[in-house]
This record gives sequence, C-alpha cells and structure tokens, in this order.
Amino acid sequence: MYPKIIVQTELKTGDNLILLTKSLQALPERLISGPEMKFIKEQHKIKVEMIPFNRLDHWVVIQFIPEEKEANQRREKCRLAGDKIQLFLNEHKVNQVTLCDVDSDEGETMALLEGMALGTYQFFKYKTDKKGVNTLKKISLNSKKIGKKTLTEFNAILNGVDFARDLVNEPNSYLTATTFANEIESMAVKAGITVELLSKKKLEALQMGGLLGVNKGSHEPPVFIILEYKPSRHRNKQPIVLVGKGIVYDTGGMNLKTESHMENMKTDMAGGAAVAGTLLAVAGAKLPLHMIGLIPATDNRPGPRAIVSGDILRMHNGMTVEVINTDAEGRLILADALSYAKRYDPELVIDLATLTGSAVRAIGKRAIAGMQSDAKKEFDRLSSSGAEVYERIVELPLWDDYGEEIKSDLADIKNLGGPEAGAITAGKFLQKFTSYPYIHLDIAGPSFLDKRDSYRGQGATGVGVRLLMGFFKQKTS
Ligand code: BES
Ligand code: ZN
Ligand code: ZN
Repeated sequence: MYPKIIVQTELKTGDNLILLTKSLQALPERLISGPEMKFIKEQHKIKVEMIPFNRLDHWVVIQFIPEEKEANQRREKCRLAGDKIQLFLNEHKVNQVTLCDVDSDEGETMALLEGMALGTYQFFKYKTDKKGVNTLKKISLNSKKIGKKTLTEFNAILNGVDFARDLVNEPNSYLTATTFANEIESMAVKAGITVELLSKKKLEALQMGGLLGVNKGSHEPPVFIILEYKPSRHRNKQPIVLVGKGIVYDTGGMNLKTESHMENMKTDMAGGAAVAGTLLAVAGAKLPLHMIGLIPATDNRPGPRAIVSGDILRMHNGMTVEVINTDAEGRLILADALSYAKRYDPELVIDLATLTGSAVRAIGKRAIAGMQSDAKKEFDRLSSSGAEVYERIVELPLWDDYGEEIKSDLADIKNLGGPEAGAITAGKFLQKFTSYPYIHLDIAGPSFLDKRDSYRGQGATGVGVRLLMGFFKQKTS
C-alpha cells in the first residue's frame, strides 16, 4: 500500500515538512529561523540539494529542484529526489509529512511526490517479522497550484501500479491462473469494471489452440480474463483493447529453462498485471474511455501431456502454428487474445508482454521495446508519454521481410525465428493475428529488478501502468 496523499490547505506547527524550491530566496522566512537559514545557505553553497534538519519534535527537509534544463529529465531527477527523501523519513520512523511547493511547478511537485510514493512500496506479505515495514503512511500536499482532480488521478495511478506490483511479486505457489483471475475479479468488482472469466470448456469451444496448447503441460486449468470499463460518457466510439501476457510461471515447458533463466519467471504475467492495474487506474480516475482488457492466463510447464517441438497447433483464428520451442509460449497465448480482440472492432490494440530475452539483451532493464503496425501517430504519442513518466520506449521495426524468419514448411507459421532479432520476429508473429491499429510492448526487461533501483524498487516495477495512464490522460484532456 502506498501512503495516502491528501490536500492540506494550512500548514500546522509541529508537522514534518518538505519545502520544495528552486532558489534560496523563495524560501519563506516565517517558516525558517535565522540559524537554520545560515545552515541552509552553507549547504546550498556546496551544492547539497537535499537538506534535512531536526527540530526535536519534527523534521524539516529543504529540497532544491535539481538543475536540469530539459523538463522530462528534471522531473525524473525530482522523482529520484523524492525517493531519497522517503528513505530518509522512513529511516527516522516518520509517519506523516507535508509537502509544500514553495516555487516548484506542478510537474516538479507531482514528480517528487511520485518518487516518494513509489519508493515506499514494499512486499511484506510473506515476512513474519514486520519490523522493517515503512512508517510513512500519509503525505499531505500544501499547494495553491494543484487541484483535487490532479490528486484523484494521481492516487488512481498509484493504486494501479500498486496492484500490478503486488500481483507480480506473488510467487507461483500462491498465484495460479485461477487465483490470478480471482484477484483481478475482486479488484474489478470493487472498481466498477465488468469481468468475465472464460473457463477451459469455453476456451475449447472457442478453439483457443494457443492458450490450450501451452496449458497442456500444467496441472492447473487456464483462464481467459475479460475486463470491460464503459463509463456512460465515453469519448471513443470504438473501444481501446489492452492485451496482457498472463503466464503465471514460465518454466519453459518441455524446452525447460536452465539455471538462473527460470529464477524470476513469476514475472511472466507482468503484462497481464499491467493491463489489470491500468484498468483499475482508468476507473479510479474516471477517464471517459471505453476500454477492454484481455488476459490469457496459464503457467508453462513440462508434463506428460505437454506440447513438444514439432507439434502443430490450430489457433483461435484458424491459423496453424508449428511449435519449434515451447519456451516461446507467450506469443502462442497472445495470438489467441489478439484474434479474439477483433470482435470489439477496436480503435487501437496495445499488448504488454514479458515476451523475449532478446529485448532485454538489446536494451536492458531501463526501457520498453515497442513496435507498431498501422498506428504510427498513436505510437508517437505513447512514446512521448513514456518520456514524460520515464517508462521509455525504444522503437523496433516490423518490416515485412523480418516475417521470412517465421515461415514454416509444415504449418502456416512457426513460433520461433532465427537466433537474431528475436524481439522483432516475436512481434512479427503477433502481428499476423491482428487486423487493426496495433502496438506491441515487450516489457521483459523493465518488469522486474533483481536489486533496488531508486523509486522503481526491487522486484516488480508495475511498468506499463504509468505509461498507459499518461497516454490516456493526454487522449482525454
Ligand atoms: N518469458 C520469457 C521472456 C523473458 C525473458 C521474460 C527474460 C522476462 C525476462 C519468454 O517466454 C521466453 O522464454 N523467451 C525465450 C524464447 C526462446 C527460448 C525461444 C527468449 O526470448 O529467450
Ligand atoms: Zn518462455
Ligand atoms: Zn514467457
């Protein structure tokens, strides 16, 4: 749970205080004593940006806005500063703090708040000793510039990220496809989102050969999760469909992953979690958009009935796929969801998937590999949202000739290309199942971090939720 963030119109004496400012001169003298000002000046001279001091019953933190010309870079530095402040406050067992935007603009203030809030995230569900739990539970915002609507949207986004991170951090011992679906269902019911869960029987009737094929090695049934948010005054005539990869655990199947490659594979449903978290955020912010979420869910395991190399699957859209490698399973379940999406006559479909090691090797954990077909304008808008929220997208091409790699001798296509350009050939595979403006986001790198990286934390990052919300907010403003 993130700290609650509320508006506070008046400063109270005794409150812990953060003063966010561009300059020394702007600091309000009525809040700072002479000796304190002297101390701040000395620190500022030697370029210290965060200056905390203690007043026995409360803390004051002076935070100078980091120097950086470009607005997106400056905001990112504010997020990093926010994380440092929350680390400091939690270390000193502070429960609440008031942030005062002395002369920062809305973007800088909200970025600092965001860094603070995201930085406090912890996953303590399985820890018996709760001693290390963060104490900071409430952040008040004392501002003349920032209104209620901004804060409502902000809290909605945090809730969405929080939800996604919790799901990704859940181990497979708890999170089967069924519990995954149930968690999403109970969130959706509370948020006013319609849910439908398609059982194995229904998937057989729909001939979802990709999802059923991947599920064959499992002792757990698959689920296809359908979410719909349709506010009465939505602006889009045709819905926007989000598709998320929901492999609750990827062992590789019969092409079993070896050594450390399997270690963090509970993150393989991070795309599905991001889709559910985004719908939660959209509903919480009451954005006037008709949205659909599709999440095919199963684990990928070897088992007596598991698919093997050479098997041929008939997919939901009737196409046949030769399985070369059972570890390239994400594209098999997504293909069914992408062809299912056609029934909504969507304006745009965006999928999020921890799809390829190739994307991680190409761009690491700091960016998303993005591809598009027939959606250049929307892709550019999404990319600019990515730059703003710092969930950055690097575009890879979906040029026709890359499709040569996935031609099969026996079936319509195969599920694996050559050893090179694996992120692109995976994208080409998915594109075969689309017939609408389409964006594919490979989040294999940034979805999960082995060690803490500032406000992005350790473990699940919830990547995708802030990116999509930035994009949708722009669309509706
Ligand atoms: N789930 C993995 C991709 C992945 C890698 C996610 C690293 C998160 C971190 C995907 O299903 C996979 O196994 N891809 C393989 C396919 C290959 C063996 C055919 C890959 O890209 O390495
Ligand atoms: Zn795999
Ligand atoms: Zn996978």
